[in-house]
Formats: sequence, structure tokens, C-alpha cells
Amino acid sequence: MSPRCDLSGLEICRDPYVTVLTGAGVSAESGVPTFRGENGLWKSYRAEELATPGAFARDPVLVWEWYDWRRQVCAGTNPNAAHHAIAQLDRGLSRFLLVTQNVDGLHARAGSKSIVELHGSIFRARCTGCGRLDEDLPVPLEAIPPMCDCGAPLRPDVVWFGEGLPEEALAKAFEASRSCDLMLVVGSSAVVQPAASIPLLAKQAGSSVIEINPDATPITPFVDMHLEGKAAEILPTLVNQIL
Ligand code: OAD
Repeated sequence: MSPRCDLSGLEICRDPYVTVLTGAGVSAESGVPTFRGENGLWKSYRAEELATPGAFARDPVLVWEWYDWRRQVCAGTNPNAAHHAIAQLDRGLSRFLLVTQNVDGLHARAGSKSIVELHGSIFRARCTGCGRLDEDLPVPLEAIPPMCDCGAPLRPDVVWFGEGLPEEALAKAFEASRSCDLMLVVGSSAVVQPAASIPLLAKQAGSSVIEINPDATPITPFVDMHLEGKAAEILPTLVNQIL
């Protein structure tokens, strides 16, 4: 057993209600770039030119070209040991919820079932006219921007800066964070709201919170345990101790 994963001090009950909050770091070892940090996407690209409603209104082709590239990157990767360990928790516990900020679809591909996608999915498009959802667009896209049968352009069904999160998803995430016994926060810089407030809500409600991240984040001072390292290396051991 890795001493970094010794949970004895936390007095975690048997078959605990676990909520996991993931960010881009959980997919880093699969080869999906994170947003912040040394090689993060926001180092090379400007969010306001690519991930806002205004950017899409100004230049839908540019925005879609970027998302088409990211869809290809994500489609070319596979879930790693961290995604698989989280799916194991989903199967092994009576009460479990995964709340992810990621749009890459890797949790579902690893077999997780109870998933709340706070920021949407890069593999789903939404019509800007009639609101129809489309999960069947080819990778790579055949036409940019892709068009709906109703004649309006489709947009990526992701949450952009300046937009609200899907209400039902957020309500489920908040409810789980208030009710769980244990929350794991995996690979998130914890700077983007409202996701960043979820661990603090759990802590206030009496849950134990464990952060898994090679770096410290703004929530590190508030968590019960910070396991410093890569998600794919730490989570399999951690999950074995919880189950
Ligand atoms: P970030 O890119 O902000 O943060 C990734 C975090 O993962 C950092 O804290 C890294 O230290 C950590 N990390 C890197 N490699 C890791 C590994 N192998 N194992 C564990 N952790 C690792 O990603 P998010 O917090 O997900 O929003 O970003 C939140 C939101 O900001 C995203 O959903 C996206 C972005 O703008 C939207 O697009 C709406």
C-alpha cells in the first residue's frame, strides 16, 4: 500500500456515498491536453476567441475548426487507469456520482454510468435554431460549420465562458456534494466556478474531501488530504482502499 493513500485517519464508513469531481488532469495521462499549466490549451489559444458565444457569432468556422481538432484528439485517446478506477467505484458502491468538467467522453468509455457532465460533451452538437441535439457528427467533420436539417448552424454542445451550466446537472452535483460521505477531487485546478465551489460545499456539509493532483490548488488548504501525484498512479490504490 502506498503510504500516500493511507486513509485510516479519515474514518471512512463501509460502502460510503462517494462523489468524484474530475477536471482535465484526469485525462492528461490519456494524452488529452489540460487547459492550464505548462502545456495547457489556454497557453496557446485565447479562450475569448474560441470558447465564448461572441466568438461563435463572429467566426463560427474558426470555432468549429478548433473543436474539430479537439474532437479528433479526444477520439484518438483511450481511458487511463484513473478513469477505470473511477468506473470501478461506480460499480462497487451503493451510492455514487461522478461530476465531471470534462467534455472528452473518456469516463463513459471507461464504463462509468452515474455521470453528470457539467460542461457538456465535445461529441454532441446543438442546433442554434431548433435546439436539436446531434451526437452522430463524423470525426473529423465533413463540413464546417455543420448544419442542422432546419437550416441553422449547429454549435458544440459545451458550456462556453459567459454561459450558465445545465441547471439539472448542477442541481444534481450540488445535491450529491451536500449528501456524500467522501468526495474525491481529481485533476482540477479548481479555479473555474461554479465547479470549484463543489468541494467546499461538500466540506461544509461534513464530507471528507481528498484531492488528487500533482500541484496545490486554491482548495488544497481546505481539503482533508492532498494526494500529490498523477491520477492514474494514485487512484487505483485509493479505490481499492475505499471498496
Ligand atoms: P485545468 O487545465 O485548469 O487544470 C488541470 C489540473 O490537473 C491542474 O491542477 C493540474 O495540476 C492537474 N493535473 C495535471 N496532470 C495531472 C495528472 N496526471 N493527474 C492529476 N492531475 C493532473 O482543468 P480544469 O480544472 O478541468 O471549461 O478546468 C476547468 C475548466 O476550465 C474546464 O472544464 C474548461 C476550462 O476552461 C470550459 O471549457 C467551460
